[in-house]
Amino acid sequence: MEDQFGRRIDYLRISVTDKCNLRCSYCMPVEGLDWIDREEFLTYEEIASVVRQMAGQGLRRIRLTGGEPLVRRDLPDLVGLLSAIPEIEDISVSTNAILLPQFGRELRDAGASRVNVSLDTLRRERFREVARRSERFFDATLEGIEAAERLGFSPLKINTVLMRGVNDDEIEDFAAITRDKPWHIRFIELMPTGDNLHLSKRFLSTDSVLRRLERIGDLHPAPGPLGNGPATYFQFEGAPGTVGVITPLSHNYCDRCNRMRLTADGKLRTCLFGTHEVDLRAPLRETGDVLPAVRTALAGKPERHLLQLGSASGSGGLRALSQVGG
Ligand code: 5AD
Ligand code: SF4
Repeated sequence: MEDQFGRRIDYLRISVTDKCNLRCSYCMPVEGLDWIDREEFLTYEEIASVVRQMAGQGLRRIRLTGGEPLVRRDLPDLVGLLSAIPEIEDISVSTNAILLPQFGRELRDAGASRVNVSLDTLRRERFREVARRSERFFDATLEGIEAAERLGFSPLKINTVLMRGVNDDEIEDFAAITRDKPWHIRFIELMPTGDNLHLSKRFLSTDSVLRRLERIGDLHPAPGPLGNGPATYFQFEGAPGTVGVITPLSHNYCDRCNRMRLTADGKLRTCLFGTHEVDLRAPLRETGDVLPAVRTALAGKPERHLLQLGSASGSGGLRALSQVGG
């Protein structure tokens, strides 16, 4: 699969639900969203059929996202179906880790090899402000990260969304973890969508993060851990982990884009942002063949996103990233 700009697409992010057990301020309104009806979801068999067909066209790597993917029942069953597809080389999961103590082992045994965990604060008392759930969920998150380590999910990546005046006083603390643990801490620039525009004043560029980190140690460019993403990595001298930055706004990386996204209700999105969406569910249910629709989607993949700080226009009507899997 290649688009009109010569980018090879071998990576699909699959959102299995738009629901989540947390309410991170940048990702989901407190009251939730107009959830997609459960009957609208692709079944696991249907998702596997889409992946099988796309695998014949070059798809190699899968990430399961949400919302929170582990709130959908029997997620390991989907992992099992996908890992049985011979062309698929890598299956990973983006999660808030809360349900990993419960489902981590099954996930791993079914064939998921890596998890990315979202964690925006290291301070228990701050969790309520950041994730808008009680501190108990913070404890559960840390237990989930421990479970991920114990079960051998590796490399372990931690995603931290930067918010000025909310968690920017923790940048050094997050980075310091990489001196002790083989974790990959990735600072992500806040992306504007319809529902989080009030957070625009919280935006912080990763350049300022790197300038601050240089004050606490020598940071060298480093090869990243195995993965598919757009992060740029650095490492402190002798550290087992790395610090990564993901810069959708300050440094656009769309020229390296390798991905498409599938929403829980079966829309194929060729860009996180913009209004390009092609429905796969109807052709899947009518003829079983999704490849013509996939080709249409690929032909319309935009060259880049048009995001702008403080405006929802570039996000193409998207209310929240939880609707498309981040
Ligand atoms: N800006 C930046 N990152 C976001 N995520 C979700 N919404 C946003 C946003 N508006 C992140 C989550 C998760 C990843 C899948 O996307 O924190 O780590
Ligand atoms: Fe790819 Fe779109 Fe993300 Fe750019 S914004 S990296 S084109 S998905």
